[in-house]
Amino acid sequence: MIFRQLFDQVSGTYSYLLASRKGGEALIIDPVLEKVDRYLQLVRELDLRLVKAVDTHLHADHITGLGALRDKTQCVTVMGEQTKADVVSMRLSDGDKLAIEGLALDVIYTPGHTDDSYSFILPDRVFTGDTLLIRGTGRTDFQNGDPRQQYESIFGRLLKLPNETLIYPAHDYKGETVSTIGEEKAFNPRLQVKSMEEYVEIMNNLKLANPKMMDVAVPANMKVGLHQEEIARRGWAVTAVEALALVDKPDVALIDLREHSERERHGIIPGAIHLPYTRLQENIAAGGMLHELARSTSKQLLFYCAFGERSAMAVQAAQDAGVASAGHIEGGIDAWKKAGGPIMR
Ligand SMILES: [Fe+2]
Repeated sequence: MIFRQLFDQVSGTYSYLLASRKGGEALIIDPVLEKVDRYLQLVRELDLRLVKAVDTHLHADHITGLGALRDKTQCVTVMGEQTKADVVSMRLSDGDKLAIEGLALDVIYTPGHTDDSYSFILPDRVFTGDTLLIRGTGRTDFQNGDPRQQYESIFGRLLKLPNETLIYPAHDYKGETVSTIGEEKAFNPRLQVKSMEEYVEIMNNLKLANPKMMDVAVPANMKVGLHQEEIARRGWAVTAVEALALVDKPDVALIDLREHSERERHGIIPGAIHLPYTRLQENIAAGGMLHELARSTSKQLLFYCAFGERSAMAVQAAQDAGVASAGHIEGGIDAWKKAGGPIMR
């Protein structure tokens, strides 16, 4: 496995670049906007291809690099389903896998620091976001934080992992880089409590000032979505309501860009061809399956995904590859469901 821990000194944030090898797919956890060029340089130097950018939760102390990384690499942006961010390409739930080629992280919902906090687990390590820090825990006094939920997330979930599991948090302010579950159980002062009530008492009396960046970072991090208007302005989008009348037409090929797990959890639009977004490029280039389908049958390609972000990027890629009939369903299957569209499970 390729693993890099990257640090942003200004906000004390750790970001993590992960990859296996073969085709070089990589993902990054908790990227910071100001460091995006550095991440991309490293990705190039290691001959990797960034396919996912993930935030453990909506950050209050720095602006996320998710949007900028997506705009520069067309990667998929990922957060938990509870997030208040306007659009991320893919939303995870407890029990899902966060996967790239050769790597699959177990996704667990660990609310408490915020109500959208997640942790990601590999066999030997866990990325805890701000839920569990080294000799500390994330504050619970804003963004729908809740010390009771955090106690459950830490004692009920994270501390159940094997003692030797490495902990990689989203922050450290003292220069610590890594810990283990066993070490934190023994030495994290906030975890030396006899009950949930004792933990809540500690967390409710921290009397911390708000993060300096909070008033800037939170609103910015809630607006990370791709601007789908530009795709619509060029006539490459249909609304979910318009799509209702289109999908049964023989001259329309409906293409589902989501991953297998998303299709299982949220259902599919009947009749759609499944083509995961990560395999789009090879299919849309001249000689690729979709390219030839569009050319030889004059079928209109109509992409959709979860919220319209991957499909908007797919439309652009298809148009760039000369497929003039490519369009997408604005707002994805989410909008489709809201418009009363049929779903198959
Ligand atoms: Fe945080």
